[in-house]
Amino acid sequence: MTGWSKIAIIGAGNIGGTLAQRLAEADVSEELVLVDIVEGLPQGKALDIQESAPIVGFSTRIWGSTKLSDIAQSDLVVLTAGLARKPGMSRSDLLGKNAQILKAHAEAIRDHAPRALVLVVTNPVDVMAYYVRKVTGFPRERVVAESGTLDSTRFRWFVAEALGVAPRDVVGFVMGTHGDTMVPILSHCSVNGVPVTRLLPPEKLRAIVERTRKGGGEIVDLLKMGSAYYAPAAAQAEMAIAMARGQNRLLSASVLLNGEFGLRDVYLGVPVVLGRTGLVRVQEIDLTPEERTALETSAKAVRTDLSVLESLAL
Ligand code: NAI
Ligand code: 2OP
Repeated sequence: MTGWSKIAIIGAGNIGGTLAQRLAEADVSEELVLVDIVEGLPQGKALDIQESAPIVGFSTRIWGSTKLSDIAQSDLVVLTAGLARKPGMSRSDLLGKNAQILKAHAEAIRDHAPRALVLVVTNPVDVMAYYVRKVTGFPRERVVAESGTLDSTRFRWFVAEALGVAPRDVVGFVMGTHGDTMVPILSHCSVNGVPVTRLLPPEKLRAIVERTRKGGGEIVDLLKMGSAYYAPAAAQAEMAIAMARGQNRLLSASVLLNGEFGLRDVYLGVPVVLGRTGLVRVQEIDLTPEERTALETSAKAVRTDLSVLESLAL
């Protein structure tokens, strides 16, 4: 096994449980602890996943706890606790409640796992990541957030479906915030190098961009209770595995910008290299003028939520 000694996932709900299964099966850590406030839930899910080990063949030791201090000495802590969207709710509606929950988790990471990398998942994710980084005081390299890998896999699937090609052959990514103003990047989307703009008509591409932007809401409306978790957990695992194995993968992730793309002091989805130390670098790329304007609009939406968070004075 190449990887870490310990991963902690806080929040053993739909995301936490599904991600725990994916990471255990990927065998990237010797130990994985699931933490939740509901007694029995993390212990039950952990034992259930553990009992599949003889069949699946992984060696990860997985256990559950309701004590935040059990994240001690983790190499990676994934934050998934909080409320999920219900039909009609925006991600921003979740802001105040989830920030209160993550405050305690960020403090626990700072106190018990001071060398950990942190992967933020809880929504509204770009705002939560900003807040978690602030509370931990960690450098930006160690606090990254997932949304770009999820929005990108949805975008890639819609293109693959429209063209009738293998999903893995569609490469492309989504930038900006995890919300309605996200920016699917058509100018860099291709089927193994063939630009998608040469393969699909503009009206079809516009429909794919629109469906990607509403991808999370589409699942919420179908499920009626809770939000998506299979594709999200796959997207989070892609990031966690890239870091655990030091793969230096170029993926879309939300990170604190420090002048890249002309933006500063805001978490936003951009192409990054992820490796053993977390964020290795932000990869700047050429964007069309329309994409650049859309990215600025997306940054404005996050800044609006950040001022809501600030006004709550948590
Ligand atoms: P869920 O409701 O299934 O699970 C949330 C879990 O958090 C529950 O088990 C609950 O008991 C636990 N929890 C609540 N307060 C806690 C506390 N103080 N300490 C420890 N655990 C606590 O929700 P789900 O589907 O797992 O989603 C979790 C979060 O992830 C939501 O905020 C959702 O919006 C977000 N999400 C973000 C995505 C992204 O792309 N960034 C994708 C999918 C979900
Ligand atoms: C999604 O996009 C809930 O944010 C989550 O599915």
